[in-house]
Amino acid sequence: MKRWLESALFDIEIEIGYGNGEFLCNLAQFDQGARYIGVDAQDQCREEAMTRARDKELDNVLFLQGYGCAFLQKIAPESIDVIHIYFPSPTDPRTHTYRWEPLMTECFVDQIYRVLRIGGVLRLVTDHLGYYQRSLRLLKKAGFWFKEWEPHSFPIPRNFLVNTPFERRYRKAGREIYSIYVIK
Ligand SMILES: C[S@@+](CC[C@H](N)C(=O)[O-])C[C@H]1O[C@@H](n2cnc3c(N)ncnc32)[C@H](O)[C@@H]1O
Repeated sequence: MKRWLESALFDIEIEIGYGNGEFLCNLAQFDQGARYIGVDAQDQCREEAMTRARDKELDNVLFLQGYGCAFLQKIAPESIDVIHIYFPSPTDPRTHTYRWEPLMTECFVDQIYRVLRIGGVLRLVTDHLGYYQRSLRLLKKAGFWFKEWEPHSFPIPRNFLVNTPFERRYRKAGREIYSIYVIK
């Protein structure tokens, strides 16, 4: 990973909260010229995602176990091209409390701003209105430039934004889906 981050030869994209790794593997398979790093709080996600990457014989994607904010703190400024965050609101349905550290904090947004290159992009999709509103507020405060959602360059079924397992699940359940596309 260190070599990838120090090299200027290819774009670097990060996904925080990759779940089973399906999205990042699809992206990595489609664009072999870039390097992809996933970070997820759960170790069992890492195992599943790494198996998926191995099965597809991908050598441009790496899955790590860790927390989003702590991970970004270790990254050099202006070294990342794109950050993906999809359905990151892991609330416990019984208590409505976060099971992991809440991802969208002021500190986290500051880290995203710091590590993105000028012109770098954050893509965020959520089914959670409160999370969406909080993200809008923090991203505006950090100085990001808001744009319309830009479709991905790899094939995604019609009416889907990212086609992750949670997007499929929530669309099927008829939930509202909110997206954010901001540029540094
Ligand atoms: C609801 S799942 C979504 C998975 C996938 N992105 C999708 O759309 O299908 C949320 C994922 O975020 C991870 N996660 C939650 N909080 C996190 C944090 N602070 N840092 C890293 N990963 C986190 C969880 O472990 C979980 O795998």
